[in-house]
Formats: sequence, structure tokens, C-alpha cells
Amino acid sequence: MTPNQPGQMPKMPIPGVKNLIAVGSGKGGVGKTTVAVNLAVGLASLGYKAGLMDADVYGPNVPLMMGVNSTPMAYGDRIQPLDQFGVKLMSMGFLNPGDKPLVWRGPMLHSVIQQFLRGVDWGELDYLVIDLPPGTGDVQLSLIQTAPITGAIVVTTPSDVSLEDARKAIHMFHQVKVPILGIVENMSFLVCPHCAERIDVFSHGGGRRTAEQMQVHFLGELPLDPQVRVGGDTGKPIVLREGQGEPFLELARHTAERTAEAAQETGPAIEISD
Ligand SMILES: Nc1ncnc2c1ncn2[C@@H]1O[C@H](COP(=O)(O)OP(=O)(O)OP(=O)(O)O)[C@@H](O)[C@H]1O
Ligand SMILES: [Mg+2]
Repeated sequence: MTPNQPGQMPKMPIPGVKNLIAVGSGKGGVGKTTVAVNLAVGLASLGYKAGLMDADVYGPNVPLMMGVNSTPMAYGDRIQPLDQFGVKLMSMGFLNPGDKPLVWRGPMLHSVIQQFLRGVDWGELDYLVIDLPPGTGDVQLSLIQTAPITGAIVVTTPSDVSLEDARKAIHMFHQVKVPILGIVENMSFLVCPHCAERIDVFSHGGGRRTAEQMQVHFLGELPLDPQVRVGGDTGKPIVLREGQGEPFLELARHTAERTAEAAQETGPAIEISD
């Protein structure tokens, strides 16, 4: 179990869930949900038991990006997650479909996050990937204070504004003692489909540099590729596409390695009895 700091609430394990991976960023729109979706599907296609919890309660994009649009069943007080591409799923978008926004304050957010963590029948999972909303606010704190997060992935683009906010996110995770699995540089470069020239649309290399400066791992570069966006908008994650999914599969492999290292440092997220 992740050790508790003095004065912190106890971080209760989630029965059956071996590793919790939070995907966050300081800035919005840098590709957190894209990374979380392709990571969860990538882990499942590598043979791991994977789940994806959409903690972006106000702006849930997981249903669209996973191509799922149905209502989960509840048995007693347990919610059954949906299943798509071998990944167990829970999102506010399943409970509040359509375009009407939720107008909720902090305590409601806290209780829905707890419901998603503990009221959902996740079953046995090697990895539960959590897609965080942008920034360093209520949802992040609610999760971090109550769940034994094995480690966090920080997504950034190579641009200075995104990197500045990524550093804030890293500081936040450090402050609350959540290990950083690493930084991912998304939209790292574009290969022109006409001339095959490489274009660094948002600059390049800042993710790796920031990782070195802040002494965290660098998990890799993901290309800016129109097919990634198409995969998101059509609910067909690019990681499943032959010939195009490799950068995301590589991220899944790398994340699995880093999670094992982080779990060794902090202990497993569940008590193992044999
Ligand atoms: N590598 C990429 N190449 C092309 N398009 C991408 C890439 N990564 C993300 N996108 C697109 O950029 C948009 C924003 O991505 P996404 O929703 O994953 O970001 P986010 O960080 O989760 O945003 P928010 O902060 O609003 O939750 C989406 O349309 C997505 O398809
Ligand atoms: Mg998102």
C-alpha cells in the first residue's frame, strides 16, 4: 500500500486493483484523454487486465474516444463498468449523456470520485488508468488524498506554455508524494503526409529536457498525427491500428516497466495474500 504521510487520510486500497495510474497535465487540451485511452487499450492488447476511469466529471471525453454510448447497470449498490476493446470503463458521460453540463460543487465531485473508485465492480485489474481533468484542482486532490496512486504520467506538448504548466503538475504530485512515472511529450512532431518532411509544430524536445531537469523519467514522444484525432473522434483508438499504433504501444510497454519500478519503491497498491 502507498505509505501514508503523517496527518494524511488513510489511502485505502481498491480491492482487486493492482496499480492505479493517473494521467494528468497542468494545461488543458494537450492530449491527456488521448494518452489515457490509448494507454489503457494498449495495455489490454499487451495482455494486461486494464480499466479506464474518467475522472473528468465536467468534461468527460472517454465515451466518445472509446466509442461507447450506453448506461452501466447497477446491482444493489455496485455499478458494473462497461467493457470496450477489453478495457473496463466508467465515466460521468455514461450517467449524464448529451450536452447538458453538470453544475456541481466540490463535495459532490468528491463523492462521485469515491463512487467511481469504490462503488464500481472493477474486478481484478493489473492497471486502472485514471484520466484526470486539466490542472491541479479539487478532483486531483480528492483522488490523490484517498487512493493509493501507484504513479502519475504527466502529458505535455513541447511548447513553453505547456511545459510551464507541466512543471506545476509535477510539483503538485511531488508535494502529495505521488511518484511520477514520467513525462510524455505529445504532439511532438508532424511528418508531412505530402513531402515526408518532419515539422516541429509546437517545438520539440522540451519534454525530455524538462524530465532531465526535474529528475523524472521520460516516457517518450508521440507524433502529431491527424489519424490520432480521427481515432479519438470516431471511437477507434489509434493504438489498435496496424502500422500506426506503435508509438502508443511503446508507451504502454514503457509505462508497465515504470509502474513495476514505482510499485517496488512504494509497495503494491493492494495487500497480496497467498
Ligand atoms: N498526438 C496527437 N495528434 C493529433 N491530434 C491529437 C493528438 N493528441 C491529441 N489530439 C487531439 O487533440 C484534441 C485534444 O486532445 P485531448 O482531448 O486528449 O486533450 P486533453 O488534455 O484530455 O483535453 P482536456 O484538458 O480538455 O481534458 C483532441 O481532438 C485529440 O484528438
Ligand atoms: Mg481530457
